[in-house]
Amino acid sequence: MTVGSKTAKLIVDGNEYEFPVRSGEIGPDVMDIRKLYALTGMFTYDPGFTSTAACQSTITYIDGDKGELLYRGYPIEQLAEQSNYLEVCYVLLYGELPTRAQYADFVNRVTRHTMLHEQMVNFYRGFRRDAHPMAIMCGVVGALSAFYHDSTDINDPMQREIASIRLIAKMPTIAAWAYKYSIGQPFIYPRNDLSYSANFLRMCFAVPAEEYEPHPVLSHAMDVIFTLHADHEQNASTSTVRLAGSSQANPFACIAAGVASLWGPAHGGANEACLNMLREIGSVDRIPEFVARAKDKDDPFRLMGFGHRVYKNYDPRAKVMQKVAAQVLDVLGVEDNPTLQVAQELERIALSDPYFVEKKLYPNVDFYSGIILDAIGFPTSMFTAIFALSRTVGWIAQWKESHEDPEQKIGRPRQLYNGAPSRIYAPMESRG
Ligand code: SDX
Repeated sequence: MTVGSKTAKLIVDGNEYEFPVRSGEIGPDVMDIRKLYALTGMFTYDPGFTSTAACQSTITYIDGDKGELLYRGYPIEQLAEQSNYLEVCYVLLYGELPTRAQYADFVNRVTRHTMLHEQMVNFYRGFRRDAHPMAIMCGVVGALSAFYHDSTDINDPMQREIASIRLIAKMPTIAAWAYKYSIGQPFIYPRNDLSYSANFLRMCFAVPAEEYEPHPVLSHAMDVIFTLHADHEQNASTSTVRLAGSSQANPFACIAAGVASLWGPAHGGANEACLNMLREIGSVDRIPEFVARAKDKDDPFRLMGFGHRVYKNYDPRAKVMQKVAAQVLDVLGVEDNPTLQVAQELERIALSDPYFVEKKLYPNVDFYSGIILDAIGFPTSMFTAIFALSRTVGWIAQWKESHEDPEQKIGRPRQLYNGAPSRIYAPMESRG
């Protein structure tokens, strides 16, 4: 980051104030207003942080106008095409592509942390069988801090590293067991001879009664889905993790906070909501009715999987996801998937409708992912749990970065107060 001679001038009540302007490597400059309140007695007002940079980062860059997404400078299309999820985890955590030896060591370390403390099996038993997998993920991820005390000291770089590896390694087991518990099947333990994605599919779909061989195309599709969801700059759940981390909460508690934030249908819950919406639409002839509802100001209905705070162009992840959907449906011999037909026709109609064009609403990462996960055999309730599994590396990379940033301090926003001024307490007898 460069702090050049550029400044921004602000005039308040006739007084002129100057604030330094800082430039990043690429992307918008920032106006450093950390002294604004001390100088002017005023706060900025920015609900939803539409114009606020909460931190400096070197991890992920998004150009919403171009529809560009870079992980440590590498375009998402190249990583999805040529890399794999564990290598992407290494890049996000350490900043550079690993050498062959570094990659082998990283895979070995993750592989040997995939099991959960056996006592955690009982923890699942406390949930109802029909508990939403995200409710289980919130509870079990938070509970990790009760089992892995030796990696909760956030000031010890070694413990931060061990916690990062543990979280990346254990999330597939936690998510798979949440699914198994919800369908009343026994837990399947991880196997060290399988890839990360094949291991996850086996833990979800194998049963003790017979062998299960994960299909290579489906394992690859899962790996690409994990990569596409791995990180995404300062989105709601990542900002939640950073804010929780700013109070020096342990990494497991911070990631549990991220899981909770991701669950919302406006964020990571959109993939589940989108498939449910596509199923509710049911056939292409009902699309106009739903498009009209999405445009109706008085109707809270939104087209799930459409629109984005940052992308005002096609979400590059959605384009890759669309290709993966075609591959998966082809290998599964699913010719005329009605949900895919509705999705493709809905996309065509929406992208030619002035309302969506003017508001720059395009399909986002959640629009096609549900079709793939549904075809592979996951219930919609598992979609966001898979998103959480994928995003854990991004959350933890951002969490580590915030701890290592000397400019970071506890997050404590202020407010515009519209409540009652000071007034006298009225005893009950005087209130009538
Ligand atoms: C993710 O931040 C990230 O990076 C998130 C994410 C990640 O990887 O972490 O990319 C993952 O969360 C993707 C987004 C998933 N959510 C959905 O698909 C839910 C549907 N989308 C909307 O709820 C909405 O688009 C948001 C929440 C995603 C973005 O909302 P913003 O940026 O706050 O924009 P907005 O709600 O102010 O919308 C701007 C206008 C509004 O109309 P006006 O008030 O200006 O007239 O566009 C309209 C909205 O009504 N609009 C939509 C719409 N999304 C926005 N109208 C119909 N359908 C939609 N989907």
